[in-house]
Amino acid sequence: MTLDVGQKAEIENDRAALQLWRSEHPDTESVAHFTPGPGIQRLNVRFDIDRLRDALDTALERVQFKGAIEDGFGAFSLTRRPGVEVETANDLSGLFHTRVDDSYEEVQREESVDEFAFTEFVPTFDDLYFKTVWQTLTRLAPIGRTRVLSKGLYNCNSWHRDPEPRLHVPIITNPGSLFVVNHHVTHLPADGSVYFTDTRGYHTALNGGESQRVHLVAALPQH
Ligand SMILES: [Fe+2]
Repeated sequence: MTLDVGQKAEIENDRAALQLWRSEHPDTESVAHFTPGPGIQRLNVRFDIDRLRDALDTALERVQFKGAIEDGFGAFSLTRRPGVEVETANDLSGLFHTRVDDSYEEVQREESVDEFAFTEFVPTFDDLYFKTVWQTLTRLAPIGRTRVLSKGLYNCNSWHRDPEPRLHVPIITNPGSLFVVNHHVTHLPADGSVYFTDTRGYHTALNGGESQRVHLVAALPQH
């Protein structure tokens, strides 16, 4: 194989770059913690993680996760439209945009949800710590649908964007559970922290661990 001058220069540059990159070892510790970045921030407010887990245990004695459980996705709602007892499949998901193939074109999925309509806390959970959490969140900003979302092991969401940001309160997690907004990715520890995720950007959540991940997720409706 003969190389021209330009190809020889490219090889030489790449060889030097590879030598440099291989001499540096990637950090493998910080990924087990939270790192803020564009679109993912941690709030000051903090909840009691033990009480969150107790609330989850009690809630699951009363209801089950709904959704494509076999695909690793489960949810139940903590808020509803006043008096509306039966939620629709769309209520558990809602409008989003996604790019699904090599056309790179955006497509819309599902139907718009009026987040501002979800003003009532589901009475089934009135006595649980979830209500305190929800009441506290409503002091921060208008809060829309508030759900408890479960993600099975080796599972990820679609790569999509939503009409509004979300607040996440991790309840059960593992270091392989990551949240990605555009080019920023971080683990969200379940220590009572509340995280702002700007899900108006492209995002996904994935669980690369070997146990279930459960978050309380509240929409931050946009006018
Ligand atoms: Fe989303």
